[in-house]
Amino acid sequence: MNTYLKLANKTMAIVTFFFLISISVRAETVESSEKVVSAIDTSTETTVVDVDEESFSCIREMTPVRHFYVDNLIGDLKGTLAAANAPDGAIYPTGSVVQLVPTEVMVKRESGTSPATGDWEFYELEVNEKGSKIAKRGFVDVVNRFDGNCFSCHAPAREKWDFICESGHGCDPIPIDHKMTGALQRSDPRCGAAVPEDGDSMALFKLKAMVTIGLTKKWFEDLF
Ligand code: HEC
Repeated sequence: MNTYLKLANKTMAIVTFFFLISISVRAETVESSEKVVSAIDTSTETTVVDVDEESFSCIREMTPVRHFYVDNLIGDLKGTLAAANAPDGAIYPTGSVVQLVPTEVMVKRESGTSPATGDWEFYELEVNEKGSKIAKRGFVDVVNRFDGNCFSCHAPAREKWDFICESGHGCDPIPIDHKMTGALQRSDPRCGAAVPEDGDSMALFKLKAMVTIGLTKKWFEDLF
């Protein structure tokens, strides 16, 4: 073999060697980027919010904020409290649960579930000493005992307050005051014995009278 041929062979061998190395490096890169993708997939799986009647129990075991209660079904209570206490409003994190009375609940579902309602799912529960039953659940079309659509009443508070009405967030007021909602919280049948405060029986009596004369359009009828 002459020297030129030998040199050409050597060069070919070197080129092939580097070519093979580059393929194996690429293969490793692909493999490691697949690993990254599968790691991301696993982390999004953990944000699934499963909601069934076991998700709800005694309202007073949730965390009180002003006159209502909050919780978080995926463990982010800190994030939920931060949103509830943000002075200028905030978007509640996934998994948040908000309740004013034992029978009505808002749950923040997975991001992108329902853009119209800011991912809130509305629930109407039937509650007794045995627990909760979900009577109605959904996004834009849930109607309460008051014949009112949860979403349309809460929609004015969308900007800044993430659909949480409280007072002064733009929603039309309801005829039920905080003395009455407090009395309902303290007599949630899922909590065992009621823990009444002074004036609770009068508040519940007034509420019952409002139901009887049709003022609340049977909103709380099922509670008596
Ligand atoms: C007639 C209008 C109206 C309808 C219908 C209505 N809400 Fe509300 N909701 C309000 C108002 C106003 C408040 C604030 C009351 C307050 O704190 O004084 C409120 C409070 C709440 C709260 C406590 C947090 C907050 O926004 O202040 C939850 C949770 C809630 N409602 C869920 C529901 C669900 C679930 C439904 C349907 C099953 C529903 N609501 C139907 C007007 C309505």
